[in-house]
Amino acid sequence: MSSPISRRRFARHSAALSLSAFVPQGMFADCSNPQRVVVRMDSEIGVISPRLHGQFVEHLGSCIYGGIWVGKRSSIPNVDGYREQAVKYLRDLGIPVVRWPGGCFADDYHWRDGICPASKRPNRVNLHWGGGVENNSFGTHEFIGFCRLIGAEPYFAGNVGSGSPAEMQEWIEYCNYPSGSTLAEERAANGSPEPFGVRLWGVGNESWGCGGQMRPEEYAEMFRRFATFLRPCIFGGTRPFLVASGPSNNDADWSRRVMDGMGRYPYPDGFSMHFYENGRSRPTDYNPQTMDEQLAKFASLEQAIIQQRQLLDGYARGRNVAFIVDEWGVWDESVPEEDKRYGLFWQQSTMRSAVAAGLGLNVFNRQADKLYMCNIAQMVNVLQSLLLTDGPEGQHCIRTTTYYAFQMFKAHRGKTAVRVETKGASPLGLSASASLRDGELVLSFVNPRYDKDMQVQCALRGGSASSGSAQILHNSDYNACNSFDDPNRITPQPHTVSMNGSTIQLDLPRTSVVTARLKTA
Ligand code: AHR
Repeated sequence: MSSPISRRRFARHSAALSLSAFVPQGMFADCSNPQRVVVRMDSEIGVISPRLHGQFVEHLGSCIYGGIWVGKRSSIPNVDGYREQAVKYLRDLGIPVVRWPGGCFADDYHWRDGICPASKRPNRVNLHWGGGVENNSFGTHEFIGFCRLIGAEPYFAGNVGSGSPAEMQEWIEYCNYPSGSTLAEERAANGSPEPFGVRLWGVGNESWGCGGQMRPEEYAEMFRRFATFLRPCIFGGTRPFLVASGPSNNDADWSRRVMDGMGRYPYPDGFSMHFYENGRSRPTDYNPQTMDEQLAKFASLEQAIIQQRQLLDGYARGRNVAFIVDEWGVWDESVPEEDKRYGLFWQQSTMRSAVAAGLGLNVFNRQADKLYMCNIAQMVNVLQSLLLTDGPEGQHCIRTTTYYAFQMFKAHRGKTAVRVETKGASPLGLSASASLRDGELVLSFVNPRYDKDMQVQCALRGGSASSGSAQILHNSDYNACNSFDDPNRITPQPHTVSMNGSTIQLDLPRTSVVTARLKTA
């Protein structure tokens, strides 16, 4: 069985090949100033679900152990074992949903390993991620406790690869059955008489790869078999929302053959795509070419969302299947010394990463009507994370540029996305989105160019605004980052937005993210 790392290398290689045809070097159409933008306040797209700002945590590197969980006896300040500083930062940001325990790890995870008193939990081997000992001190109760602490909805990924329908069914019963069944009583004996009410359940992860190397037809059969036993598990008023393993990137063949293989019943509630924006440089070592290559992939992400949604809509019952981007984010070249010191796939987040986050979140706003949930990979210490700690034992916990990009987009949550017209469709041109609700118009702009400052002139149509303010996240060095020595190097700063009737103007320096919040007149 090929490992997920080798699959990723293959994907990265083929993506790089196709990209050279997609973005001819040096050909950037839409860069003349001012950049004219029309915000169509009268043209609604759909509500921006807070879930589009979801997160993903996995038993990988120092995401769980040393990241969010340090243990009750740690010298690192903690709340019942959860890293105190991380909890504070995550709570401040407001995290809508967290997916756990993987990733590839999920298809080799047996939930019973993580529920009894910690001293009795078995030591297993984390086969997917380095072969180290997994002591299971972070299990179902700890994850639910974490979600409660930060105010997030839990999303469980069930084991299809090496598990069984019975195992997953029992996990749902353990979590959600109010009382009286042996499993509900076991949960109560383990300290939680109240059911957890877990609604979101993934049925496998990357079943085309690390989740079992299945053919699409095989996975469709597997889904039907699992879902037959999971669908009736409506306990304490919680109906499980079953998410099927969708494509890698825009793999229409996988999606079509899986959907063709679905019977009349049971049908998936959600269909999840994984779309990483891989990069050919180390995080703080990008150059103009590798940065452009990576950032251009957000145009492909947008295209994938549109095309996969269309594909699902082509099935009469597919129209009710929610589309989900379960894993996304920049996946840079690893730095072996950092992997060794801080944990596997520990990755710095630079100004480029913040631009990438802004591009992704703008895509989600623009396609809000097609999306149910999007979870960036991964919340702490792995890939494009919100927070970084200096290793499992480290006392430091800092907010990354990606954290701040999410913070700036928070104002869009729950608002209605409206159409924004920009000139041209260059994958590396100005990126924009807008949303509206309760007398507030929120505009977000991203300048992904490393060599070009932009002036944005924005006309409002179908409405007007009276006053407002803006924030900018910017550093002209796209490899600049927040570090343990300089944790506040890149943070949102107040920015000037000038308004003249129904025209708004603001500057967008090279590699920057700007959000403006305007009162509508
Ligand atoms: O996020 C890291 C890994 O990437 C996940 O475990 C897997 O689902 C994907 O290949």
